[in-house]
Amino acid sequence: MRGLSVAGQLSAHLAGLCDVLGLDQSASIELMMDLLGSNGSRLLSEPPPWPSNVADDHTPVEYSVAFNGAEPPSLRILGEALGSPPSAQANMRAGYKFIDSQVTKFGLSTKRLNAVKDLFATEQPQGAFALWSSLVFRSGRAPEFKVYLNPEVRGVDQAPALVGEALDRLKLGGSYQSLLDRVIRPGELGLQDRISFFALDLDDGPQARVKLYLTHHHADVHDIARAARVVSGVDPSEVAEFCSLAAGTSRFSGRPLVGSYTLTEGSDEPVGYSIYVPIRSYVSDDQEARDKAVALLKRYGFDAGILDQALAQLTQRPLRDGVGLIPHVSLRLGPPRPGVTVYLSAETYSVFPPRSKQIPAARSPVERGSTRTTATIR
Ligand code: TRP
Repeated sequence: MRGLSVAGQLSAHLAGLCDVLGLDQSASIELMMDLLGSNGSRLLSEPPPWPSNVADDHTPVEYSVAFNGAEPPSLRILGEALGSPPSAQANMRAGYKFIDSQVTKFGLSTKRLNAVKDLFATEQPQGAFALWSSLVFRSGRAPEFKVYLNPEVRGVDQAPALVGEALDRLKLGGSYQSLLDRVIRPGELGLQDRISFFALDLDDGPQARVKLYLTHHHADVHDIARAARVVSGVDPSEVAEFCSLAAGTSRFSGRPLVGSYTLTEGSDEPVGYSIYVPIRSYVSDDQEARDKAVALLKRYGFDAGILDQALAQLTQRPLRDGVGLIPHVSLRLGPPRPGVTVYLSAETYSVFPPRSKQIPAARSPVERGSTRTTATIR
């Protein structure tokens, strides 16, 4: 087992997940190989080449299954391309190179990315990452791509203006300031409330999205309801309830909750909202996380059996024996496909031991620390 390469392990996961979801394996495996590049041939027994923040154990890849009402669930991969050798700058370059190499193959549009990339590309990228990619696989369709850029790449204090400029260039800046004014807790911009991701769909359709993510440290359910309320058509109490059910509390003092606002051309206001609950930080073990995820899926009428089948492709260990296999659950509201997403860890490098209910959840650091020495913040 330990003689297996990272690429070998992750391809086996993908083959299994594609089987469960009725998807073609070759497209996702090929893209994953491209994303991993030469780092894919490293052995599982070697340490991670870079402390990627995509997943707690530093695997540069995280899976998710997005359930929706209109079509079968889709498979998504969030990944960080790493340079060889990796560094903040080499990883950023590897990320752009990965995207560039897919443009012609998949007919991607980089028009909007090109319009803003200089803002997010700097000689010395700061923060936890510079560029992540997400790949979405749906039955019978070409993969869809999204890039995640780091608004804090020039420093935390630069993020609000940087995003303002990016949105202006994309003609989506109309409601940005009022959004911040209504959502951010007084005096907490850049402290407890952070602008954490700026994401772009790499397609050209009228519905191509920009998503703006805010991370809310030490929020309570009222803070989350306030963040959701600014999007018309979104029921803040539904969002609040989802969070309380997922986390089993109404004060989120473990890992922070993240909300995202969907912006599309032709609308001055956000058209959708998603909330991401880092469920791993609010449960004792993966059995508890699985049971909560199943309850949430059922509540929305989705086939929870698929989740169990997906988990079985990733690990054979008893779910009680670790925590972190299900890092997040999210509720997506608004177009194009509302639904529930369950995130899944590859656990390539480590499984975190279950935590006892007696240990109070540690305050999660605002800046990322080493996950190895601060295992209680999962
Ligand atoms: N691992 C990071 C975190 O938990 C980043 C991340 C990966 C993330 N997948 C995510 C954040 C899904 C929110 C939602 O913060």
